[in-house]
Amino acid sequence: MAKIVVTGKIPQVALDSLKSVHEVLAWDKETPMPREELLKRVIGAEVIVSLLTEKIDEEVLNKSGSQLKAVCNVAVGYNNIDVNACKEKNIMVTNTPGVLTDATADIAMALILMTTRRLAEGERVIRNQEPWAWGMFYMLGTGIQNRTLGIIGMGQIGIATAQRAQSFGMNIIYTRRNRMDEKLEQSLGAKFVTLDELLSLSDVVSIHCPYSKETHHLIAEAQLKKMKKSAYLVNTARGPIVDEEALANALINKEIAGAGLDVYENEPTVNSKLLSLDNAVLIPHLGSATVETRTAMATTAASNALEILKGNKALNPVWS
Ligand code: DGY
Repeated sequence: MAKIVVTGKIPQVALDSLKSVHEVLAWDKETPMPREELLKRVIGAEVIVSLLTEKIDEEVLNKSGSQLKAVCNVAVGYNNIDVNACKEKNIMVTNTPGVLTDATADIAMALILMTTRRLAEGERVIRNQEPWAWGMFYMLGTGIQNRTLGIIGMGQIGIATAQRAQSFGMNIIYTRRNRMDEKLEQSLGAKFVTLDELLSLSDVVSIHCPYSKETHHLIAEAQLKKMKKSAYLVNTARGPIVDEEALANALINKEIAGAGLDVYENEPTVNSKLLSLDNAVLIPHLGSATVETRTAMATTAASNALEILKGNKALNPVWS
């Protein structure tokens, strides 16, 4: 029986699968576990099942001890984990690819529609009981048919977003490290371009790349200036990929038409300038927030933990 520490509340079915075989110390509150508590709990753990609200860094690894075999993140992104430190200590890191692709692509598409059609702004009018009437020129948005969607980071979620946008009549361009296979490009009608080309050609730019040192502030003042004044920026990946202050300024100065954000540079804090802007749609990191998806994420992380503790290979290793 190994000790497994679960750093946040996860669906019961996943917790039960761990508890049926091992000793599990699980945080059962909806709010994130305080750091001091985390540092106490991880002592002696063989596996840490982590949520992205917990930073799993060298200090946590050292506190845990040399018996620590794996950190199984309940997320596809793993920028909350110091993967290099884990690698050096031969601690496996796993994530949950695949199971949140559709849910996140749905949210990206929703943000594309919310920003271009001014849906949050319209909803505020109703809720605030402001006067309104149907009008020929009242609250006009922008149609997305025949417009260009630029996808930054054409991985699974980028592809699923492109598929949705394609069915809405959008043309797809994309940038990523390597070009996709030609058949996939053809099926999406997608064209491979450089980041600069993408920024200047897109009517909507949607971010889907992982966050790393290389993608920190990938979209900052200079890149925002390359976008069309009529273009929208959507981010469902990680907040710090966008320089939030530069984005707020670009929105205030109408250098771009709008932004739809699910993620923020310093979550849960949101740049205060954004809060009063009608051309910013702001939602609280809901990309994977469906019952089905969160259950699948937690059971995937649990399965990784169980396999590793059986001495088997991880199902979803982030390094090998
Ligand atoms: C992930 O899995 O990385 C998502 O951001 C969680 O919502």
